[in-house]
Amino acid sequence: MSVVDEVKERLDIVEVIGRHVHLQKSGRYFKGLCPFHTEKTPSFYVFPDTQGWHCFGCNKGGDLFTFVMDFEGLDFRSALEELARRAGVELQPRTPEQVEAESESERLRSLLEAAAAYYHTLLLTAPQAAYARAYLEKRGFTLETIKTFRLGYSLNDWDATRAYLFGKGFSVAEQLKAGMLVEREGGGTFDRFRNRLMIPICDRRGRVIAFGGRVLNPDDQPKYMNSPQSVLFDKSNVLFGYHLANQAIREADAAIIVEGYMDVMIPHQAGYKNVVAPMGTALTEAHLQQLQRLTKRFILALDPDAAGIHGTLQGLETARQTLDREWDAVFDPRGLVGVEGRLKADIRVVVLPEGRDPDELILEDRARWEQLIANSQPIVRFVFEQLLKQEDPREPKGKARIVDAMLPLLNDIGDSVEREAYVQDIALRLGLDARGLLDRLRVRERAQAVRRQSAVKAPGAAGRTTPVGDLEAYALTLFLRYPETLSLADTQLDAAQLERINDNDFTGTNRLIWLAWLEMSAHPELELGDVLPADLLEQVHTWMATPLPDMPLEQWARDAVRTVLRLREKRLRDISKHTQSLVAEAQGEGDLKAERYLTTLQRLSATLCRVQQALSR
Ligand code: UTP
Ligand code: MN
Repeated sequence: MSVVDEVKERLDIVEVIGRHVHLQKSGRYFKGLCPFHTEKTPSFYVFPDTQGWHCFGCNKGGDLFTFVMDFEGLDFRSALEELARRAGVELQPRTPEQVEAESESERLRSLLEAAAAYYHTLLLTAPQAAYARAYLEKRGFTLETIKTFRLGYSLNDWDATRAYLFGKGFSVAEQLKAGMLVEREGGGTFDRFRNRLMIPICDRRGRVIAFGGRVLNPDDQPKYMNSPQSVLFDKSNVLFGYHLANQAIREADAAIIVEGYMDVMIPHQAGYKNVVAPMGTALTEAHLQQLQRLTKRFILALDPDAAGIHGTLQGLETARQTLDREWDAVFDPRGLVGVEGRLKADIRVVVLPEGRDPDELILEDRARWEQLIANSQPIVRFVFEQLLKQEDPREPKGKARIVDAMLPLLNDIGDSVEREAYVQDIALRLGLDARGLLDRLRVRERAQAVRRQSAVKAPGAAGRTTPVGDLEAYALTLFLRYPETLSLADTQLDAAQLERINDNDFTGTNRLIWLAWLEMSAHPELELGDVLPADLLEQVHTWMATPLPDMPLEQWARDAVRTVLRLREKRLRDISKHTQSLVAEAQGEGDLKAERYLTTLQRLSATLCRVQQALSR
């Protein structure tokens, strides 16, 4: 038995979840208020039979491991460690290579930790840091905030950091690897950070992985000097402030995304703790993936300048591509024609007043900030306003371009009443007939649905008859062996308007392997061995060694898609069955919820229908 199975066998999911959610017995199930979205009546169910859970309100679900990961914001290795500890299950010791790779990262972590402590002490006590302290005071920082973010000061010296860290036992090579030193052209090194305000950048668990250093002398360049990429630091997936914000983001059920370090720290100090910033880059998929575990509501607070607006639009597009979608049945006068993906997220934009960053705004006029956040514009409205500036809305061609750009956004809106309200508003502003615009939106939906339907007529291919676990393993093997197949497979799924390959496509240990592989792809410094227990690692090695015939990547991707769709088909059937028994139970008790479950059931069968259509291609 694998460690994971053993943990699952020893722990009771009802007990584990019951520590965080007040559960009540309801027939064969337990139910409670969902911890992942706000609700007044319980739609969060725990199934003791299958040791699974599902929320019919927000449609999240999974097993013991996914619950702990989602609830506590842990990666799966940490979740496994945590649950194994509770279950009293020994995790297998790591191989020498694993230990070595780990100890290298550990070394760098303790180096950065030592550097952070060094800079912090200098800032708090060194006479040379008097100017830095005065600067922070001028910018409104309290001592508490300086301590919370562990701000520091680097001496105006070419060698001080190196000497200090060397004294602590860190070699020059290690310091170079951690990005603390810069190599001189003719040989030798010098301190990267000199006479700067030092801002530690942390990973999701709050461990220092890099620094941002702000100039104190206005003549120095650049304004912010950041650590270079390293095995610990990949700036495209780090969100500054995440470890201090994640709890607040979950509680407020909203994440505010700002541009800079100061714009995170000062709001935090003022009590707005649900704020994070990318590292001077555009929002990436990796950023959004992390955040959507915590909330589905995003508020982008950005500069009003052209670059800021451009970045926002780009960020919005990334968000539309990345964030989860919900599947919604589309009807025409004759009945169901297909299923459409609606964005599950609520994305809003705050355009700040000219020349005022969030930190300045909050220090100056807190009420104004709250008002700006409260009045943030929904993405549809923001993009529309931008388009009105870019295009000439009086020209027919301009109108057409605006409408074309708006249709996909309108399509994303989950609530049909809200959707129509926007359509009417936009029609009015463009001097168009609202009905015409609505028709156009429906034509778009229908065209997509019809395209999917016509695919049904293709002859069905012979199916595989392998059990579920094998199917998952097969798909995983393809992704591990030919990593490019994943994006090819996703493209094919996109084209079929189906969800991309995701966590829910894999169960049990297979899900752990899948997540490990994702984690590894996102953090190139990691190896599978770092994140997988030895028995699973061995499993993966066996898969990798299985001979596979020579085929073009395209074809492997198609094979992977078919495999995943078969799995989804099976799962949708299972969950439909579950839902049916919930409906029966609810009706027996005269529960008004029966209605809700029926809607869910309808949606499930619609999705099932879509999957089957895609499969029969
Ligand atoms: P800004 O230039 O807007 O700075 O850059 P800021 O955050 O408002 O800082 P203050 O208020 O002038 O002190 C926004 C973000 O872009 C990155 C940093 O992450 C910064 O917080 N940046 C900016 C750099 O990495 N390097 C730079 O030279 C400038
Ligand atoms: Mn600023």
